[in-house]
Amino acid sequence: MQFSTTLAALFAVVSATLSAATPAVEARQQIYMCGKQPYKKTDYTCYPNNGNVLCPIIGGVAYLPCGYGSNVACYDPGNYSCSNSKLYLLKVCGGIPFDTNSYVCVQGHLCPKTHPLRCGEACYNISQYWCDKGILKQQGQK
Ligand SMILES: *[C@@H]1O[C@H](CO)[C@@H](O)[C@H](O)[C@H]1NC(C)=O
Ligand SMILES: *[C@@H]1O[C@H](CO)[C@@H](O)[C@H](O)[C@H]1NC(C)=O
Repeated sequence: MQFSTTLAALFAVVSATLSAATPAVEARQQIYMCGKQPYKKTDYTCYPNNGNVLCPIIGGVAYLPCGYGSNVACYDPGNYSCSNSKLYLLKVCGGIPFDTNSYVCVQGHLCPKTHPLRCGEACYNISQYWCDKGILKQQGQK
């Protein structure tokens, strides 16, 4: 009698623990809808503004959509940027990711593509300036 009471009490504790844990498990495995596609929020993000596109979550990184509907590419925002539905590879320059569409990396420093040369700390364009021992001079200037 005493033994079965202990067992019943033990069972009560176990089932209380189980039922407390159950909602968390259900929330993690719950299926959501992205348009007509089922998905889990732990594995994908739904982007209704891109035509109900699902992008994966990989290694803790939520990939972002670029484009719309069937023309969507999902990208890692650490490697790419998206502009007008086009992807641009981000390269790293001196530890800073940058958009290769707009910048170039010169000796570990970023310069705008229109001013792709470096003189001392400045970026310049050869059509306007020249570099005299680290000092910018205007073209035509000696
Ligand atoms: C993005 O960059 C990380 C590390 O910088 C790399 O491991 C990963 O393969 C890259 N992803 C793509 C799609 O290039
Ligand atoms: C330098 O500037 C000129 C005039 O602004 C421009 O036409 C040219 O494309 C620039 N050079 C580079 C490499 O962008």
